[in-house]
Amino acid sequence: MCGIIGYKGNKNAVEVVLNGLKDLEYRGYDSWGIASLNGGISLVKDVGKVSLITLEDLKLDPSKMAIAHTRWSTHGSVNQTNAHPHFSGNENFALVQNGIVENYQELRGELKEKGYQFNTETDTEVIVRLIEDKLKITNNLKEAIMTAFNKLKGRNAIVVINKENQTIYAARNGSPLMLGIGEDEFILASDPSPLLKHTKNIIFLDDYELVTIGDTYHIYNLQTNQEIQKEIQTLTWDPEQAKKGDYPHFMIKEIMEQKHTIKQALVQDPELIKNLAKEINLAFGVYAVGCGTAGKVCLAGTYAFSDIAKKHINFAFGSEFPNFHHFIQSRSLLIVVSQSGETADTLEAMETVQEKNGKVVSLVNVMGSTIMRKSDYSLLINAGPEIAVCSTKATTSQLALMILLAYAAADRYDEGMVLLKNTADQVGLMLNEEFNNSLQQLAEKIKDQRDIYIIGRGANYAIALEAAIKIQEVSYIHAEGFAGGELKHGPIALIEENTPCIAFVANDETKADILSNAMEIKSRGGYIIGVAPENNEVFNYWIKVPDVSYASPIVNIIPIQILAYYLAIARDLDPDKPRNLAKSVTVK
Ligand code: M6R
Repeated sequence: MCGIIGYKGNKNAVEVVLNGLKDLEYRGYDSWGIASLNGGISLVKDVGKVSLITLEDLKLDPSKMAIAHTRWSTHGSVNQTNAHPHFSGNENFALVQNGIVENYQELRGELKEKGYQFNTETDTEVIVRLIEDKLKITNNLKEAIMTAFNKLKGRNAIVVINKENQTIYAARNGSPLMLGIGEDEFILASDPSPLLKHTKNIIFLDDYELVTIGDTYHIYNLQTNQEIQKEIQTLTWDPEQAKKGDYPHFMIKEIMEQKHTIKQALVQDPELIKNLAKEINLAFGVYAVGCGTAGKVCLAGTYAFSDIAKKHINFAFGSEFPNFHHFIQSRSLLIVVSQSGETADTLEAMETVQEKNGKVVSLVNVMGSTIMRKSDYSLLINAGPEIAVCSTKATTSQLALMILLAYAAADRYDEGMVLLKNTADQVGLMLNEEFNNSLQQLAEKIKDQRDIYIIGRGANYAIALEAAIKIQEVSYIHAEGFAGGELKHGPIALIEENTPCIAFVANDETKADILSNAMEIKSRGGYIIGVAPENNEVFNYWIKVPDVSYASPIVNIIPIQILAYYLAIARDLDPDKPRNLAKSVTVK
């Protein structure tokens, strides 16, 4: 949800922030902008994808200091005026923001009464005018930023470039921000991807912290103005992992990486997994919470815990979880799943539990992310950078860890490891050219369909929901997942001649019933695409997957990720940057 970046150092700052924006583009891609310091502040901004922009297009002189922004609009339409950065009236400073100023209307009203003019429809401009207003009192930009930032409600991060003292200021509360410390250079960004090329030494800023970057950096507590010392951490990701390599898109690259990412997810401290399982068993009320795909993993997890550990776990999407706050107490435990570790709705769910002194265990991909740092215990899923907006490799790693935790909770950790390692091997064999080609042909066949339905039972009901998201977000075909048994209660009325319906038929106790549900659809003209270890006469088309018992959600979702990818290609769409979406949803 918007990417922000700032650079001060010996390289050409304009080039660094332009390339950084391209790395951050998956966070938002409706417009972009750069402010660079070279005597005065020069500003270039436009609508569209920054990935199409070259250094020459910018016509900016090389400089040592710049800030930049790629936007996913929240307040105000997508146009050049609303694109960030936003200038102060005297053009002494410019500012970029990631987040939402929830009290912007109130602040804007107060500022208007004081005579301030507004040129944009954004909530960001309120921050600029507020800083200008505070400057009239203190005449010190750092203090003005602090006072203004403390008045903002909501989750926000800002970066400010100042002409007079050639300093960059950045502050955060709720939205991610990190500082990379290179040799004679400093780089600020919303996530690690643009930092990797420059340095692996990172300071993760916490809420209510402000950093100043002049000749060196200083970090302050925003509320007390006290300087603080923070630990420099080392990023484990490799810059090569964040590149497309020979693949045409990140989405297919990341799908294919599942040949080894599931194995990597299993590289955990066995004692930690067993201890977490103990915490889960001892807790009074366990909730699995995530959003979007991560939410579907949580739902699948509730079935894994039920089937394997005979343990009841509640599920809620992050945005719905606060409704259950009445049932949270100090012995409650939240299992949080998030690729980015920055999803605002998920963070809010965590806060709901932590306010009542409950515990949080998280499964995250991004090291140092807010969710990771705010959790009582955290497991890194080790999938490496996931750049495509559509989550693929993170999903199967999260599923693997959920299933492993369920086995550990049943005191069958070793058995779980054997199953999951075998599943990872089977995925390695399944992901080959022939498999992909067959799915590409299937995509060609169904690419013009108006609707696709997906059914599953048990954990594969969650996978039916996840498969629907995959198809929706990259192909824009209406896709909907159902519990197999629910169709006859209404949705079956939607089935027409040749309507494609994907049925997940795992070799488990749900098999007979899901096959009956598939037959009910076929009898009404549906075209049945069976995802199963064995063929069946009810299938019009069979996608063969390995038989891996309780790990079936892992092998079942992969062919649908590939199908979704090829549906996007067949419909001439960019699978890496679906319309209206952003990779990391840091607003509510
Ligand atoms: O970073 P998170 O896992 O917390 O993100 C949650 C969702 O926003 C994310 O899974 C989203 O649904 C993906 N675009 C799905 O492919």
